[in-house]
Amino acid sequence: MRIGVLTSGGDCPGLNAVIRSVVHRAVDVHGDEVVGIEDGYLGLIEQRSRPLDHDDVQGLLTRGGTILGSSRVEPARIRRAVAEAPALAAALGIDALIAIGGDGTFAAAQLFCEAGLPVVGVPKTIDNDVNATDTSFGFDTAVSVATEAIDRLKTTAESHQRVMVVEVMGREAGWIALEAGTAGGAHGILLPEKPFDIESVCVMIEERFARGKKFAIVVAAEGARPAPGTLRLDPGVVDRYGHRRYGGIGTRLAQELEHWLGKESRPVILGHIQRGGPPTARDRVLATRFGWHAVEAVHKGASGYFTALRGTLVELMPIADAIAEPKTVPRQRLLEAEAVL
Ligand code: F6P
Repeated sequence: MRIGVLTSGGDCPGLNAVIRSVVHRAVDVHGDEVVGIEDGYLGLIEQRSRPLDHDDVQGLLTRGGTILGSSRVEPARIRRAVAEAPALAAALGIDALIAIGGDGTFAAAQLFCEAGLPVVGVPKTIDNDVNATDTSFGFDTAVSVATEAIDRLKTTAESHQRVMVVEVMGREAGWIALEAGTAGGAHGILLPEKPFDIESVCVMIEERFARGKKFAIVVAAEGARPAPGTLRLDPGVVDRYGHRRYGGIGTRLAQELEHWLGKESRPVILGHIQRGGPPTARDRVLATRFGWHAVEAVHKGASGYFTALRGTLVELMPIADAIAEPKTVPRQRLLEAEAVL
């Protein structure tokens, strides 16, 4: 068989570990050829690819980013490509495609499947918002990075008696804020799933200082929203790929808190640091398992399915289930986190 593999959407640690695993399983065990498609679906459309063999994936387990490159493609361009899917696959000589990506990548994968190109998905995202899988690789690394940042910020915050607002990624789902906030012992956690009241945040911090505490840490997901009629926030802009770029909740919150509390406040925007560098051990393992299962799925003739972690097992789930809606933080998880704030 000739299997194409591409990485698409925002990168995350563990992409290279999947590519490595795919090559090892497909080439060594099945005697396949693996074709690395460059820059996601753009490389499929523009027919840019290169063969991937054992030597090409040496040392990839620990390397962040993606050796294939990644991109986002406008929906209209994807629709045009879908119309010629069989021809694009034939020109690259691939029998099936392994698409490693998040919701956007999976939405396109579904269209390519329907147009006759067999696709198996592998879920990646630091946001942990892909549905029908317990988690995706990249998330654990992002949580570790954000947790370490919170640990570090605590000591400097305490020295200066400051309020630190740590902005983490997460547009629609606040998983990173929830888990890093819990692991780092933050005093406030603001998620897109539950609009916050700035007054309650101020009261919480004031009470904390009144108890003799010398600093406070508030973790906010970039998509955290104020309750209607409270704080006015720049809604941000929607980019050409349909994603909203938020208007800087961290900076705005820090300004507000300083204004209302009269305490020095600093925003810290972790941004792409959460997506860079080597994957954690857990993400390396998950990425490796996903690669293995993706190759097996292709050999079973699966199309329109993705590798999902369900409990301790990797199972195949319909891509349609992953993209139906994002996986957001359930109320129960928020209640558990709030109990220890
Ligand atoms: O979807 C993953 C993600 O990291 C989001 O958390 C974040 O909002 C977005 O990508 C950032 O995208 P870009 O790399 O285009 O700035």
